[in-house]
Amino acid sequence: MLARFFTRLIDAQSVWARPLGDFNGRLLSAIFRPLGSVKDFLNGKWLGHALHPALTDLPIGMYTLVILFDVLDLRQAADIALVVGILSHAAAALAGFADYTDTDGKPRVVATVHATAMSLGIITYIVSLAVRLGDPVDRTLPIVLSLVGYGLVIVGAYIGGEVVYTLGNMVNRHAWRFGATAKWQALDVTDIPEGVPVKARAGAQTLVLVRQGETVNALHEVCAHAGGPLSEGTVVDGCIECPWHGSRFELTTGYRKRGPTTFDQPRYEVRRAETGGWEVLRVSAGSGGEP
Ligand code: FES
Repeated sequence: MLARFFTRLIDAQSVWARPLGDFNGRLLSAIFRPLGSVKDFLNGKWLGHALHPALTDLPIGMYTLVILFDVLDLRQAADIALVVGILSHAAAALAGFADYTDTDGKPRVVATVHATAMSLGIITYIVSLAVRLGDPVDRTLPIVLSLVGYGLVIVGAYIGGEVVYTLGNMVNRHAWRFGATAKWQALDVTDIPEGVPVKARAGAQTLVLVRQGETVNALHEVCAHAGGPLSEGTVVDGCIECPWHGSRFELTTGYRKRGPTTFDQPRYEVRRAETGGWEVLRVSAGSGGEP
């Protein structure tokens, strides 16, 4: 009941959040796309896990300490915790903006509401810090500002949870595709032209095939990042590049060579069937580290 109320409230923000999100998306693309490996770092490609959520706990913990130290009138401790909170908040925001660049549709709208609440939160905390640094005798104003900032951050954190847990943004699209299989399955294609992505089916699986000489490489068709169709992508430097946000997966291993994905792509072995066609065997589930 309460969750439904909050969901409706968030949805109602699309009036301003949609155009703002589209503007931010264009702006962030212009900033981050040329940065390549910096953006990959901020996305968490090196970690095999999104970096943003791993960083968000630090500012929230620090802001909670600020409240505690304010109550105990430990002024210096409160100010130090506030500085650390603001700095870690800025770092988490940077990683969050890298992820935000590659959102679309409803996740982008809700992420815009999240980012707005978090931005207002950090601005409120910066004003609180500025007032504190003036060393006022009466600290009521900066304390009230900190409490307002805390409310904004908690609301922003709730909305951030919606982006991931309700809308599945930055969730591995193959999270429930466990392990390798032991059974070879027939592919529904016979002709695989050299160097061109080909969409194929094997039972319930949809794959993208790329033939390189005598070797046929096969990865799952659905991009681990946000579900883009890899068979509509391009082959670049031994990788398939997703047409939606540009993630690259190594054709021979499924390894993530370029973000925004932080996950690998499930990989399949391909061989000639006795009947003359082709058949595949899944050999990896995707995700994990560098092979
Ligand atoms: S869906 Fe985002 S890179 Fe493929």
